[in-house]
Amino acid sequence: MSKALTAPEGVTWKSRWTFILAATGSAVGLGNIWKFPYITGEYGGGAFVLTYLACILMIGIPVMIAEVMIGRAGRSNPADAMSRLAKESKRSSYWGLVGVAGVLSGLMIMMFYSVVAGWALDYVAQSASGAYSDLDAEQIESNFGQLLASNGQQLLWHSVFCLLTASVVAAGVTKGIGKAVDILMPMLFVCLLLLVGYSAINGDFAAGLHFMFDTDFSRLNGEAILVAMGHAFFTLSLGMGAIMAYGAYFPGHSSIGKTVLTIAALDTVIALLAGMAMFPLVFANDLVPGQGPGLMFVTLPIAFSNMSGGLFFGTLFFTLVSIAALSSSISLIEPGVAWLERHGFNRPLATFGLAGTAWLGGIASIHYEAVFNALDYLTANVMLPLGGLLIAIFVGWQMPAPRVLDETGIVSSRVFSAWRFLLRYIAPLGIIAVFLHSLGLLTW
Ligand code: PHE
Repeated sequence: MSKALTAPEGVTWKSRWTFILAATGSAVGLGNIWKFPYITGEYGGGAFVLTYLACILMIGIPVMIAEVMIGRAGRSNPADAMSRLAKESKRSSYWGLVGVAGVLSGLMIMMFYSVVAGWALDYVAQSASGAYSDLDAEQIESNFGQLLASNGQQLLWHSVFCLLTASVVAAGVTKGIGKAVDILMPMLFVCLLLLVGYSAINGDFAAGLHFMFDTDFSRLNGEAILVAMGHAFFTLSLGMGAIMAYGAYFPGHSSIGKTVLTIAALDTVIALLAGMAMFPLVFANDLVPGQGPGLMFVTLPIAFSNMSGGLFFGTLFFTLVSIAALSSSISLIEPGVAWLERHGFNRPLATFGLAGTAWLGGIASIHYEAVFNALDYLTANVMLPLGGLLIAIFVGWQMPAPRVLDETGIVSSRVFSAWRFLLRYIAPLGIIAVFLHSLGLLTW
């Protein structure tokens, strides 16, 4: 049966650990370091963080197990893996369309993701050249405004980032990526720890902690809950096939459960650390945490400009942010590339075609803030949860339980039942309830 199938072109990760690093590389990105702190600021702190954590546990982790399982069992790109498993379960092969929709979501995410990654690249250059080292807080804020007002400068870095992504993907998944994440992810972690330490010494750490963990549920409206759930999907790279595509290269048949828990835990810890590195500095500098997408590009430079060794730390930090973004963006186009490749395109052509499309869309998000915001909102809060809903229904209700049990490799029957229960009931009902609540159709 499927175990005898080889991955596309026989590609598999070197080991389970390489899969963990690649998937963590996909999960840990701008979502953790850029987006999580500023949406936590916008939606009021602790209650938002708790809702997000609940979504990770009850919905995100179960869906991630399902995605890895589909990829590994179907041994192909998300579209073909799903239609193959559907046919095998005597269901409509139209289920493959979930994978096709994922390709579209990935492209749409890339269309604003690469713009933000471009800002990070610009800040590598700015930090290295000491451009903001003598500025005060206000000047640093307007410095970021200048970048946003300069379409040419944004286009330059956006193009560089798209090219970087495409060259890595065109060269193949296993070559390079595995080794790169192996070195870069621990570096990112160490650097974040250093920044948290800096923040604890120089920032208002208590105020930061209060902000992130004091829960005031009165501030939690339908919109905030939708955004928290959407972010759980976004940050774990779920609902569009990225993790499924990587699952197709999963070597061997070991249990998926622990692997997924490791990835989700790393992702969550890194998001919380990023918050703990930034909020204390926000409060110590009398800034407002709800200031939106500029948070990272204003707060951290302020910190670095006061810090001895700030030039070095700033350069290092934004380099690592760029790299974290790169190890995620690769997984945004990989599903589409694997899909096109399976249908007769060669890999470089497929890669540059998709990256080129994302590049064009990125130009639109540079020029029109409304396009940027719409792409961000629509993908994270609508398309990814919807994709996740369909994946949960597919594995929970369409595939036969014994086959699912066999493919996940989960040994403990209690763990398996708990997971399947979350996938069949809690995840779908939770997603639907949050959608209805945010539309005002369901109140509680
Ligand atoms: N998880 C990535 C991040 O947090 C973004 C991403 C979403 C990557 C979906 C792949 C797929 O930055």
